[in-house]
Amino acid sequence: MSVPREKFLSPVWRDGLFNNKVLFCTGGAGTICSMQVRAFVALGGNACIIGRNPQKTEEGAKNIAAVRPGAKVIGIGNVDVRDPKMLANAAERCAKELGGIDFAIAGAAGNFLAPMAQLSSNAFKSVMDIDALGSYNTAKAVLPHLVKSAKNNPNVGTTGLSGTGGRMIFISATFHYKGQPLQAHVAAAKAAVDQISHAVAIEYGPYGVTSNVISPGPIAGTEGMERLAKSDDASVKASKKQIPLGRWGEVREIADATVYLFSDAGSYVSGNTLVVDGASWRTSGAN
Ligand code: HXC
Repeated sequence: MSVPREKFLSPVWRDGLFNNKVLFCTGGAGTICSMQVRAFVALGGNACIIGRNPQKTEEGAKNIAAVRPGAKVIGIGNVDVRDPKMLANAAERCAKELGGIDFAIAGAAGNFLAPMAQLSSNAFKSVMDIDALGSYNTAKAVLPHLVKSAKNNPNVGTTGLSGTGGRMIFISATFHYKGQPLQAHVAAAKAAVDQISHAVAIEYGPYGVTSNVISPGPIAGTEGMERLAKSDDASVKASKKQIPLGRWGEVREIADATVYLFSDAGSYVSGNTLVVDGASWRTSGAN
């Protein structure tokens, strides 16, 4: 499926920004992550996407590769982020086939809407395990590779251009900043994801690795918004009214935030959370 470039990338970025670089992304066939990977690949990089569903993952990889002639995108399916060994093997395969791992996105997540009264402890644990433990396992699998990449780029932050590597992004949410009904499990898991990212920034900063969180707000066309937003026009209008920028975001706006953090422009940004939500969480309105 071909996606027009303006849907996943602002024209401000320079072609070739990520030439010869490799991105490892869990949940890479999902709506948001696939656009982040598309943007990276369109700007010269190669990628490996990880997922539980083999068919969806392989198709996702093929679709992403179509954005640039010569792009290499591997889809590794049948990987459950709750299993550290599976992730370590996937990272090894990515490094072997693509020549290393320079960038990583921990994007795999599980979610459903449920009031606490109907949320079993196993349901709570499932989401904690996929989102929080899965992000931790992803970090553990890729960090040795990111350290190597950062070491191979001793001039990070001083040379400009594409001399970057050793960067990690965790995909979070805004539920735990503003409060969101029916999301006790996800809010708890994403709070943990934020802290894992901060820990990576602190412990791996000395090796030249940066780590940041991107917290998407209400983004149009995502599975989350389809479930969270009530579908009638009046509810959608009311939800947009609570957002200071007056609209839902586009997946491109998450991809652009990713390119910024991965580019040399973001070289001194680490241990941070980039909320991309039109200032929505500041109003504390549930959307
Ligand atoms: C209450 C539910 C439930 C629901 C599952 N469970 N769905 N409880 N309401 N709608 C309970 C089950 O009954 C079970 O508890 C426990 O959760 C585990 O269910 P399994 O199906 O065995 O788990 P698993 O196969 O590992 O599936 C994980 C999952 C599933 C999270 C439950 O939804 C999933 O795999 N999702 C992946 C895709 C996804 O959700 N993507 C959305 C990402 S979007 P018991 O007690 O019965 O054993 C996103 C952005 C925000 O994250 C979205 C906002 C909505």
